Parts: sequence; structure tokens; C-alpha cells
Amino acid sequence: MTDFASSSDSSSPPAPAQGAPSPATLTIHAGEGPRSPGAPVVSPVVQSATFMWSNPRDGELLYSRYGNNPNTVALGRKLAALEGTEAAVPLGSGMAACSMSLLALAESGDHIVASNRLYGATQALLRDELPRRGVETTFVDAMDDDVWAEAVRPTTRVAYIELPTNPTLRVFDPAPVAALCRDRGIALLCDATFGSPVNFRAAEHGIDIVIHSATKYLGGHSDLIAGIVAGSAELMERVARVARLYGPALDPHTAWLLDRGIRTLDVRMQRHNENAASLARWLTSRPEVESVIYPGLESHPDHEVASRLLTGFGGMVGLILRGGGEAADRFMSELTLALAAPSLGGVETLVSQPRYTSHADVSSADRVAQGIPDGFVRVSVGIEGVADLKADFAQALEAFGR
Ligand SMILES: Cc1ncc(COP(=O)(O)O)c(C=O)c1O
Repeated sequence: MTDFASSSDSSSPPAPAQGAPSPATLTIHAGEGPRSPGAPVVSPVVQSATFMWSNPRDGELLYSRYGNNPNTVALGRKLAALEGTEAAVPLGSGMAACSMSLLALAESGDHIVASNRLYGATQALLRDELPRRGVETTFVDAMDDDVWAEAVRPTTRVAYIELPTNPTLRVFDPAPVAALCRDRGIALLCDATFGSPVNFRAAEHGIDIVIHSATKYLGGHSDLIAGIVAGSAELMERVARVARLYGPALDPHTAWLLDRGIRTLDVRMQRHNENAASLARWLTSRPEVESVIYPGLESHPDHEVASRLLTGFGGMVGLILRGGGEAADRFMSELTLALAAPSLGGVETLVSQPRYTSHADVSSADRVAQGIPDGFVRVSVGIEGVADLKADFAQALEAFGR
């Protein structure tokens, strides 16, 4: 698994003469093999489970579950280049990326410290599933730098964070926890799905393993399920080995589709960023809306740190509607352009209520404590014309206000 920028990698196209290639260039060209006359501009799908091989003289044994199908290998190279890491492992879902990383790093008797602001399934994996394998997790308030050191034990192997967080879009500087992890030999994992590699350069902030649900912004079209893990060659070898045994390989056709999605990641993210900022600002003027949560707004508690850490504020917006859950139900049913559906990061605007989806198993009181009261609507702002989105939101807000 080689880096696009590596001069020793003969399969990579030559890097531009000056400086490292930009993410926009890497999304299109990184990981591709040599181009010669007659070669397809777009690599074909190698829809084969297995490959001709009779003995070790034939080279590496290729079998698609091993993650060494040509589409998966090329995708891994592209993602490593994009994340700025030595290697990356594409897998069959975001949860596969999360669970394979944790199984690779923690074994029975080990301990994990995790942020208490994580995607619901990740919380459940740490809270309910890993203890069955002898791995215990302490959850801490990720917004408080001091609690990490107090929670760490001699047996702590992993610290797990999510940036920005779902759905309140909190952003904190991971530098203090990264320094602690370095000192104690703990691997720092970050689920950077909400930021995408365009908006948040996780590996540049001391993160050892970057995780994405590629189902979201990387794929970008709500038409595939995939995940990626990126980090050092040594750590990725451990993740790949566990994945070979547990088996959540990415199917070659999905790898090909994901690669196609990634080619437009940079332009899509620019438009997601612009649309979300414009919609968020407009929503602050609406009487039906109690508050708007967007890191690009000066009113967001982490606006300053987000401005420093992120290269774009992202496509996610949170709204708290006056009138609580009933108002939110009505608002969602009145939308005609935005679609009511869970998930995020696609070209189409999706709207959901965390109380029914990601935070369904959190008590109402705990949700309120986490800043997610009934009436909270999460918007994954798509790349439609923003005037059309505002018109749709306006008529839905007016309908529930009547
Ligand atoms: C932040 C985050 N991480 C991980 C996941 C899991 O990804 P997947 O559904 O691809 O398994 C999700 C899914 O919504 C998510 O929002």
C-alpha cells in the first residue's frame, strides 16, 4: 500500500513539480496504475472473487475477501494519499471500519477511553458488545481536556473520539488527548465521517487511526455502504489481518462505485459547505426556529476552535424548532424537496430527528442534557440549489407555524 506522493512507487502518476498534490487532485488521480496508450481512463471493475494462482512463485495469493482485489487495493492507495497516511484499508461498512480497528487493537483485559459524544452504534459496540470480549470502556466528556488523563489506566490501549460530533456538531482540539496518547503508548482513533478528508485533515492533528463511514461524504450519493480505516502501515496491517478473519471485505463493485464518488469529493464538499452556511444563516432569521447549530455561525460554542481546525464547516446543520417534537414531526412531513431519511453526506438534502434515529435508545432527559431536546432536527444539506432548499424549508416552517 503505497502513497501517491512516494517517488519510489512506479504505479503512481508523477506528482506535480511543486509541493504536495492538493486533495482535489488526489481524489481523481491517486492510486491509479500507469497510463499507457490504449489503457482505459477509468479502471474497470474486477468482479472476481478469486485469481489464478498455483504456488508461491505466482506471487501473492489474491482472494477478494483478503482485501487484495485490484479495485480495493487501488482504493486503499487513494484513501491513504487523501488522508496523508502510510496506508488505508477499505471495508464493507463504517461499523466494520470501527469494529475491526477496535478488535485489532484491544484484547481481553484491555481498556478503552472513549468520548461520550459518539455515533449511537459505536456507543453500543463499546458499551454492550466489547465487554463480552473482555474489553471495558470508560466514557468521558470529550469537551473537557482534563478527564482523559484521569480515565486512563495501565491497560488502556485505545482512545476513541468523533470530530465533529453527531448531531450537535461540537468541535474540540484533539491536541491534548493526542499528546497524552503519545506519552502513554495509546492509539488515538478518530471517526472523522462528519468532516470528510476535505474539511478535516485528521492525521495532521495527531490522530493515529482515521475512520470514516464512506457511506456518507466519500461515496456521496447515498447508494453504497462502505468504511475506511487509515493510519500507519503497521497498524493497517493489523486491521487488515483481523478483517481477513472476520470477513467484512468490500465488494469490488462497491469499491469501484466508491472510487467514482470520491473523484468529486472536493467539489461536492465546497458546495455542501456553502449551502449549509447559507441555509444555517437564513434559518437564524426564522421565527419558528429557536436555535440553529452550525460551527460556521459565531453563535456556535466551538466556532473559534472549528475555524482553526477545519478547512470547511461542513454540510450538517442542527435546528431546534419552537413547539418541540410535534412541530418537528409536522415540519418534516411538509418538506417536499428535502427527504425525510436517516444517514447523511449525499448529494440530496436529508432530514431526520435524532430522537427517532441515532439517539433513539437515549432517555429523553439524557438527550436534553446532551443538547438534543425534542424538536431537534438534523439536516444533511445536499448540493441542490440553495434558493430551492430555502423555499422548501420556508413553506414547511410556515405550515407548522399555522
Ligand atoms: C459518525 C458515524 N460513524 C459511523 C457510522 C456507521 O457507518 P455505516 O452505516 O457505514 O456502517 C455512521 C452512520 O451513520 C456515522 O454517522
